[in-house]
Parts: sequence; structure tokens; C-alpha cells
Amino acid sequence: MSVRIAPSLLSADFARLAEALAEAEEGGADLVHVDVMDGHFVPNLTIGPPVVKALKRVTRLLLDVHLMIESPEKTLENYLEAGADWISVHVEATRHLQRCLDMIRRGGARAGAALNPGTPVSALAASWGDLDFALVMSVNPGWGGQKFLTSSVGKVRRVREHVLAQSGRAAIEVDGGVDASNAAELVEAGAEILVAGTAIYGQEDPAAAIEKLRAAARGGVRV
Ligand code: DX5
Ligand code: ZN
Repeated sequence: MSVRIAPSLLSADFARLAEALAEAEEGGADLVHVDVMDGHFVPNLTIGPPVVKALKRVTRLLLDVHLMIESPEKTLENYLEAGADWISVHVEATRHLQRCLDMIRRGGARAGAALNPGTPVSALAASWGDLDFALVMSVNPGWGGQKFLTSSVGKVRRVREHVLAQSGRAAIEVDGGVDASNAAELVEAGAEILVAGTAIYGQEDPAAAIEKLRAAARGGVRV
């Protein structure tokens, strides 16, 4: 199993996003993580479809769009049109999870469901067959730079058990407070995509920080 690194642009300088994308490419990132916040589902407000579209124009990297928005079924088509390659919606934000996942897949993107730290893995019970990936939040969403919640490691393990027992297909992504100190245990627990904002764009050399995170993650790969 190879681990994928997804730098989160939330911690980059929003006045120079194209440079941040170039740094991610230079560091060998596999995806770039784009945090969309609506000021309702989470208190913070970030970017929308026009910016996603602009990012798409200037990078070869796949865009992993994390929708922290209420009722994502109302607007997620705009993100598909903007060029999102992966899209995750929060199970807490929609009454229509299956519809959202279906819309994403029909739009040609990979469909993910995100779980807040307080949401049990059982919230995905009816969705395993519709999921390309599960996003385990290891902080309460809303801001970058928060402290990693250690209970997330056990949660990743439980998601992994369900994936193996059910479809065996969904990849596991972890987001929030991920850095070189916890990457190996997350990967050992079953994480395959590591999102990192502060640990990459909060560092002097983001490309080198990606390599450092990848090297740390290798420590958790089962051989
Ligand atoms: C948090 C966002 C994360 C955030 C992670 O709500 O979903 O993607 O950018 O940032 P760090 O790695 O700094 O916790
Ligand atoms: Zn995120």
C-alpha cells in the first residue's frame, strides 16, 4: 500500500496559491487538499467554485475538495464543474448522503464521506458500497493548526475493519493535526491519504516538509 500526501492549501498564503501549488508539485504531493467552508457548517468561510476552477487551471495535481458546507447536495455540482477530482461531504451536513455520493460519482469524481470527531463510524453503515473514500477528521473542522486528537487512530482502525468486512474498496483519509510525529501510527492503523496543512505550508520549505512527512509515513507501512 502506498501512502498519498495531500497538502492542505488552508495553511498556504491565499495571496499566492499558484506558488503553493507549485511547491506541492515540487515536493511530490499526490493530491492537493482544498478546504471549502461556508460560515454555517463551520464558523469559518474560505473559498468557492470560482477559486477551485482557477486552481485547476494552474496545476496538474488532482484536487481533493473537502466540503465543510451545509446541504452540500444543493451546490456540489458547481464543484464538479469547477474541476474537482475528489469531493467529500460531511455526513453531519446532509440528510441525503447517498444522493450526494451518487451525484459526485455521476459527475466523474471520487466520492467521499467525512466524519467529525464526535461522529461514530456507524454513521457510514449504509454507505460503504457508495464510497470511494472515508475522511476521518482528527480535529473538529473549521481551522488549520489545531491539535491532533489521539482518539482518531483507533477510529481509523475501526473504519479499516469495516472497509475490509464490507466492500474492501474505500480508501481512508485523515485530516487535522497530521504531522511527522503521528503519520506512522495513522498509516499503521490503515490511513492511506494524509492531509497536512501546518506541517507543510507552515514550514519554511514546503517541498522538503512533504518529503519528511512521506518518510515518516513509511514507518507505518506494513510489509
Ligand atoms: C480543518 C481542515 C483541514 C486543515 C488541516 O478544518 O479540514 O484540512 O487544513 O490543517 P492542519 O494540518 O494544520 O491541521
Ligand atoms: Zn480538510
